[in-house]
Amino acid sequence: MPMDEPQHRLTVVGGGVMGSSIAALALGHGVPVTLVDLTEDVLRVTRENVDRQLRHAQLLGALPEGCAPAELVTTTSPAAAAEATAVIEAVVEFSGTKAKVLAEFAALTGPGVPLITNTSGIPVDELAEAVPHPEDLVGTHFMNPPFLIKAVEVIRGPRTGERTLARVGSLLTALGRTAIEVRDAPGFVTSRLLHPMINDAARVVEAGTATVEAVDELMRKCLGHPTGPLATADLIGIDNLVDSLNILFERTQDPGCRPCELLLEKVRSGDLGRKSGRGFYDYGKASM
Ligand code: NAI
Repeated sequence: MPMDEPQHRLTVVGGGVMGSSIAALALGHGVPVTLVDLTEDVLRVTRENVDRQLRHAQLLGALPEGCAPAELVTTTSPAAAAEATAVIEAVVEFSGTKAKVLAEFAALTGPGVPLITNTSGIPVDELAEAVPHPEDLVGTHFMNPPFLIKAVEVIRGPRTGERTLARVGSLLTALGRTAIEVRDAPGFVTSRLLHPMINDAARVVEAGTATVEAVDELMRKCLGHPTGPLATADLIGIDNLVDSLNILFERTQDPGCRPCELLLEKVRSGDLGRKSGRGFYDYGKASM
């Protein structure tokens, strides 16, 4: 790395679907990562997922040439975040959990270190009260799989500082991603458009108008979407999707955002998508 480039050291909180893939993206671009989760059992699975994603990215040629993967430290101890140049939380999509995690890590890193909340739709400003320096708080919406998606929605809360935005922009550039900045709102832009559309796709299946396969094939072959909406639901995780729709519905009262019965039924029966091995499609075994 040239001398004038900032040295990044990222702490990722939460090693689930997104935390493990954001960590893999950073490592693959030479940025060292400390990943914090609640138990050693989760961390073991996280490390396997990170390794698998790095191998996959290498096969796809998605890693920068001549860049050796950086060091990954996994731990259950938040104190390890003290040296971070930025913290990104990718814990579950609940304001209360995110607020608690952000408050804990803000106290460890001190002022001036960007606190990034990776969320599908919780307005950044709802979390600002949880941190002592709201100007350090910013949102990202990395999409899955981050190795293949070249841009990241960056959410500027009303209290987000310019310096924080600049530092997050620099981190994303180091990760080979383009930052697309948007204002704070429930679901921002991408989830506000995509999630009600997936909800409608599920309603079409629920009504018996078309099969899952037909809906997805039409959206791919006639409308040019790279992936059909129901395959996308399986990738996002149907539980995450329902959480996001609930957030949108509570905050906008738009009836199109109320999760349909078919989505709720899939969550009740544990058919959450790729991560559980079955959702709208059968994957044989769990994968991310
Ligand atoms: P996930 O449920 O797969 O992983 C969450 C992880 O956070 C779990 O490993 C859990 O043990 C850990 N965790 C919970 N509380 C913690 C704490 N206090 N300290 C440390 N770790 C803690 O969730 P997923 O899918 O990775 O989503 C994370 C965030 O990213 C959510 O806000 C979600 O809306 C957002 N998102 C998810 C996408 C997806 O495709 N799954 C896409 C874009 C955003």
